[in-house]
Amino acid sequence: MSGPDPEHLLQITDVHLRAAPGATLLGVDTWHSVAAVLDQALAERTPDAVIVTGDVSHDPEPDLYARFYGWLKGRFPGPLLVTPGNHDVAGNMGALLEVDRIELSGWQVIALDSHVDDEPGALVSPADFAALRQACTDAAPDHVLVATHHPPVTIGSPWLDRDRIQNGQELLEWLSGHSTVRVVVFGHAHQELSFTHRHLSLFGTPSTCIQFEPGSEQFSVDGQKPGYRWLTLHADGRVDTEVRRVEDYALHIDRSAFAPG
Ligand SMILES: [Fe+2]
Repeated sequence: MSGPDPEHLLQITDVHLRAAPGATLLGVDTWHSVAAVLDQALAERTPDAVIVTGDVSHDPEPDLYARFYGWLKGRFPGPLLVTPGNHDVAGNMGALLEVDRIELSGWQVIALDSHVDDEPGALVSPADFAALRQACTDAAPDHVLVATHHPPVTIGSPWLDRDRIQNGQELLEWLSGHSTVRVVVFGHAHQELSFTHRHLSLFGTPSTCIQFEPGSEQFSVDGQKPGYRWLTLHADGRVDTEVRRVEDYALHIDRSAFAPG
């Protein structure tokens, strides 16, 4: 017996687009690397929805966000959900933030804003937390995937753990107390991560540009390739997931251009 077809969700994160022609992030042309990521991912399959979990831009200018929106929609005209990251300015993101919830077959994807403009640290405001609780409650009996920028848990890198969601524990306790809430996906850490909290699965996803060294005490970039995550959402609430890399991407990191943050 076979149930309904599962939904296929593509997550990209930490795109760090630059505004000036030729500008890079540690030597990496971030427009070029996100194009390589999307080219590979969309050749693998057409997703049912795409989510972008923050740090869309390193230069948070309205024109740059609008350009990215048009560029992304040109490649994937289907459902798109974006959350702001610490490098973003939400008020400048325009059409990117039009959607805060996507309904799929048996699932809802809900955006959670963890960012604070002009601060690397993260906090879910009381209003955003209340809206999340309402959205998760309203979604039942559908299963829920929450998309946010910052990790709600410590990840073993002290310099990144300083920026975890301050009320992440409270968030986890609430989400894991609801059986229909199945998954939280996040970015910010620029690396592949996987945790569980009761029945809840939490996944961190590599950046579309540069990656941070897992377990590093302080800012440290490693040589792993641009990546992305597929999530297969089954009608019974199960989730299969896989991180993929653009293995043939010619990554040349310029560590002399060190600019943390
Ligand atoms: Fe980032």
